[in-house]
Amino acid sequence: MVIRSVVQGWGAYLPEKILTNDDLAKIVETSDEWIVERTGIRQRHIAADGEMTSDLATHATVQALARAGIDGAEIDIIVLGTATPDETFPATATRVQERIGAHTAFAFDVQAACSGFIYALALADNFLRLGQARTALVIGAETFSRILDWQDRTTCVLFGDGAGAVVLRAEEGTGANTDRGVLSTHLHSDGRQHDLLYADGGPSFNQMAGVVRMQGREVFRQAVIKLSAVVGEALVSNGFSVADVDWLVPHQANKRILDSTARKSGISLKKMVVTVDRHANTSAASIPLALSEAANDDRIKQGDLVVMEAMGAGFTWAAATLRW
Ligand code: ACO
Repeated sequence: MVIRSVVQGWGAYLPEKILTNDDLAKIVETSDEWIVERTGIRQRHIAADGEMTSDLATHATVQALARAGIDGAEIDIIVLGTATPDETFPATATRVQERIGAHTAFAFDVQAACSGFIYALALADNFLRLGQARTALVIGAETFSRILDWQDRTTCVLFGDGAGAVVLRAEEGTGANTDRGVLSTHLHSDGRQHDLLYADGGPSFNQMAGVVRMQGREVFRQAVIKLSAVVGEALVSNGFSVADVDWLVPHQANKRILDSTARKSGISLKKMVVTVDRHANTSAASIPLALSEAANDDRIKQGDLVVMEAMGAGFTWAAATLRW
């Protein structure tokens, strides 16, 4: 008997306010041309004053629950990936828990920066496969606009706000019954590369959240190396070849990172889901946002093999394979 975590529902939310590259050019010395050429980003969504990470996460969750056809009370575990929680504590996941009435669930946040969604998915999948929970809510949600230095053109043009969520249900079976669901997750981190990407604040530091500091060129180089390696690891460990992949759903950092990683992995760019042009980098939210978009417009169909990959500060990097 095998237990698999099968996707039952998905949802996404982007704040109403859109900030275009031309809008940014009024704040810092940059241009639409530079940003599009170097990153592929054309616009990003920005949370309204007072709109919190938990608000974005709850909107995405309500959609995911509706699509799964279940009530919040049926959720056993909530794992929320974020680097921009509402508060230092408690976990933003518990705010969502309260809003959806998941009163018998246990809820916690995962901090793995841009890899947060895959880390959260891996944790939920393990709880489900161990039989410690039957229905999981996995969320990636961020308000990165709150930790940007809006005077630093090398970082403020890259990020946006948003949230995405999936509902996973443990399904038991043998043979064809267990074809669907999360097939594998592959998590890595390397704390030696801290200084290449971090936020220069935090509770144990100076009580303020800090702002993003990044050595962009080296982050770019490391991203392509690590992401193509972890995609290879995910395929090899399942005995898949690139031809088996129906959809690559990468963390949306920079179109050039996405393209280079797909090319290095040997995966056709036509199989890649791209949202970075409209969402920018929404950190832990970018993969569930992209998944939701591609599932809503029927690109991703039941039975498709989906490979997800992400890299973020730490460094952390990760991949997951999933039969939709
Ligand atoms: N507008 C105009 N000019 C700019 C801007 C801007 N927004 N930002 C930097 N420049 C200038 C620099 O000052 C520099 O000028 P100089 O040559 O006079 O010194 C020039 O453009 C080139 O700068 P580079 O940093 O070398 O440009 P690069 O081609 O590396 O692009 C970028 C920068 C887009 C940040 C790229 O390195 C990148 O995307 N790195 C990855 C960063 C990332 O994705 N981080 C997200 C978190 S990690 C993850 O999600 C994978």
